[in-house]
Amino acid sequence: MSEPYTYPRKGSIDDPLRIAVLISGSGSGLLSLLKHQQSNQCPHVTKLIISDNVNAGGLHHGGIFEISTAAIPLPRSSDKNQQRTLHENLIHEKLINSKIELIVLSGYMRILTSVFVKKWKGRIINIHPSLLPKYPGAHAHRDALADGAEITGCTVHLVDEGVDTGEIIAQEEVPILEGDTVEKLQERVKRIEHQLYPKVLDDFCS
Ligand code: GAR
Repeated sequence: MSEPYTYPRKGSIDDPLRIAVLISGSGSGLLSLLKHQQSNQCPHVTKLIISDNVNAGGLHHGGIFEISTAAIPLPRSSDKNQQRTLHENLIHEKLINSKIELIVLSGYMRILTSVFVKKWKGRIINIHPSLLPKYPGAHAHRDALADGAEITGCTVHLVDEGVDTGEIIAQEEVPILEGDTVEKLQERVKRIEHQLYPKVLDDFCS
């Protein structure tokens, strides 16, 4: 049986929710969130950035914005299940030590185990580059193009024990244009994501 969602407390401008942003890549979504938090009074504040990828371009944003940043790669282990557990334990410990109240996945490309999700359920939010339930998984743009879709988009949703199956909070459509490639579509969708995610977080946290 799946666990119910346990939502975070209400954040306020005086006492914002402490967010950790988890990334794996260039972190353009992270950057848009940090700029949003810098130029607006928000009920949330980024206190920690974690990447599973030590070479993630997005790790640089932490230094520029003076936010505690950690690269936590998968530890060495021949047992894949043990490796995932050890990795998530390291992340969990870091989140607890930083008094994190909400985990924001922003291009984090690892699937979280149900054990980890249960500990944080209702307090993990993700953005996915499709109109879920269409095209879940790691290749949403490729799958949308292969399907001949004319419309795709992005979805902000709570994370549950499945892959991109949690409760949907917001979606926005993006048209697929003639001659689109994965790269062109990805850029167009990201531009929408960068507006949508910070706004949804403002609402969700308050
Ligand atoms: C974003 O488009 C995000 O929706 C996607 O990765 C990109 C990250 O870009 N996430 C997923 O595909 C999760 N399954 P960024 O690193 O430039 O922010």
